[in-house]
Amino acid sequence: MKFPIRPRHAIRILTAAGAALLTTNGFAASPAWLTANDKEIKALVGRMTLEEKAGQMTQPNILAIKDASDIENLFLGSILSGGSSDPKTGNALKDWVELYESCQKRALKTRLAIPLLYGVDAVHGHNNVLGAVIFPHNIGLGCTRNPEIVARAAEVTAKELRATGIQWTFAPCVAVPRDIRWGRTYEGFSEDPSWVASLGAAAVRGLQGNSLSDPAAALGCGKHFIADGGTAYQGVPGKALLDQGDARMDEATLRAIHMTGYPAAIDAGVGTIMPSFSSWNGEKCSGSKYLLTDILKKELGFEGFVISDYNAIDQLVAPVKGDRSAESNNASGQVKTANYKKCIEISINAGIDMVMVTDRYRDFVTLLAELVREDKIPMSRVDDAVTRILRTKFALGMMKKDADLMANSALQNEFGSEAHRAIARDAVRQSLVLLKNEGKVLPLSRQAKRIHVTGRGADDLGMQCGGWTIDWQGKTGEVTTGGTTILKALVDAAGKDTAITTSRDHQDAKGADAVIVVVGENPYAEAKGDRADLGLTAEDSASISEAKAAGIPVVVVVLSGRPLVLGSVAAEADAILAAWLPGTEGQGVADVLFGDAKPTGKLSFAWPRSMDQLPLGNDRVKPGDSLYPLGFGLGY
Ligand code: GLC
Repeated sequence: MKFPIRPRHAIRILTAAGAALLTTNGFAASPAWLTANDKEIKALVGRMTLEEKAGQMTQPNILAIKDASDIENLFLGSILSGGSSDPKTGNALKDWVELYESCQKRALKTRLAIPLLYGVDAVHGHNNVLGAVIFPHNIGLGCTRNPEIVARAAEVTAKELRATGIQWTFAPCVAVPRDIRWGRTYEGFSEDPSWVASLGAAAVRGLQGNSLSDPAAALGCGKHFIADGGTAYQGVPGKALLDQGDARMDEATLRAIHMTGYPAAIDAGVGTIMPSFSSWNGEKCSGSKYLLTDILKKELGFEGFVISDYNAIDQLVAPVKGDRSAESNNASGQVKTANYKKCIEISINAGIDMVMVTDRYRDFVTLLAELVREDKIPMSRVDDAVTRILRTKFALGMMKKDADLMANSALQNEFGSEAHRAIARDAVRQSLVLLKNEGKVLPLSRQAKRIHVTGRGADDLGMQCGGWTIDWQGKTGEVTTGGTTILKALVDAAGKDTAITTSRDHQDAKGADAVIVVVGENPYAEAKGDRADLGLTAEDSASISEAKAAGIPVVVVVLSGRPLVLGSVAAEADAILAAWLPGTEGQGVADVLFGDAKPTGKLSFAWPRSMDQLPLGNDRVKPGDSLYPLGFGLGY
């Protein structure tokens, strides 16, 4: 069932394509509506105290808030729920509604009653909340090569966000991953910059709608500026292989490969942009005035606000030797420094407008005010930052006298709805890439007597969803939100004459018409996904070889956040379907396996033959080098 392209989506596609073209000329600028309220904002900023301004620039993580009254007492402008930072009462829709509304009510108690922005990583649906629809991660959406479905996925994500009251997601990621050993490869649409530009812009338009003041629209965030996907492979003990590393390249390459997503997102009206933890030629992006002010704000004309990454500013000044206050404050090992004040000075003067701090938000507001009083940060810089932050709140309609700032109850009825799931199912279908189909074993016949299904991923919703799902790192097994596994989808899709049998080993495959082996990666996020070896696990390889021994056609379905090195499986399998991380709607995989939908996906990353070919990339691999080249995909 193809969804007709609705006129407003068609307009979005054209403007997204136009924006992608714009990137080739490097021209960009935020749309006029983002600065339309500047006169009113100027008057408001003129009434604000330094403490109120500092509060607007401060974003603590919800779990780090020591006393809820800090929200009003420190005039906090924003709060985030980082990965796994869920309401203490539970993880259902109502828990998130209560949490958001309690925070917002406090913000509205302040003298100026400036509402707060609540931000989360809704990177493939509102993926923190039980019952949310989980979409394919960006690598799969990249294989659709279809801005329209990307926009629709984002639109549903925005609706399910606003159902909880939350107005802001740290998405889309417009990284251009160039080494698939990076754990965040799946957050990128493609290794091909032009696809990143057009699909990133489509995601912004889907999230932010025709107007940010639409109650179903959500504020987007283009991330991570810049060249987060271009870091050099390190292989240094104790350090991540690639994540948060150093992108070593000349400026022409930086612009040609890693900047393309930003002019397109800015033209699409993206309200916020997040600098990368990583560095460019040794300089941390979070401290680079050239990158954040000269290029992003001046040259690219970005009029929204720059939000730092999670404690990223702490990394700007190396810990002082023997510094007693140094302490690791989160899994990625970022170390606090006694020079936190210096970190604040560097980052704000570089062009960061709001800082994603965790537990040090009280220090932050105090030290920021001190730095302004000491003239180390000009008040004009603070006023510019607050103006940019307020632009988004005005654009969201939050500053209107009668603004409804509570969760949108009308949207709660659609949360996790069949209509939303149908859109996700269509996105799954379009994301699948058929890599091999020897003897046309696919599509499966509904005249088959029996089809056997095996492999670790056959009945594992957690593997299907990947990282950033309920938990930051995701989890295998049923522990994630409700959805349909591939096995369940096959049982539902099979005709009445076809038995679907299953087991974790191959024994029962003998005598079946075909065997489907679902293999892949366990969930991960960020540096925890950096891998030196992308081969299949021994269990997966064994499942496929043993299935082969049954002497019937073998269909391998790969659930992964990137291409994997298939080794002998490439020859053993009769058919291979790359399913990426499809999310909760496993029916989309069954639709293609049974031929109710044709495979149309095209590889958004070249698929390596072996590890020694890495890093691959469409401009570094000669035709025939990769096992399957960028853009490859079979049909029926
Ligand atoms: C993480 C990620 C970033 C995310 C942020 C908030 O470390 O780098 O993509 O938006 O923190 O969770």
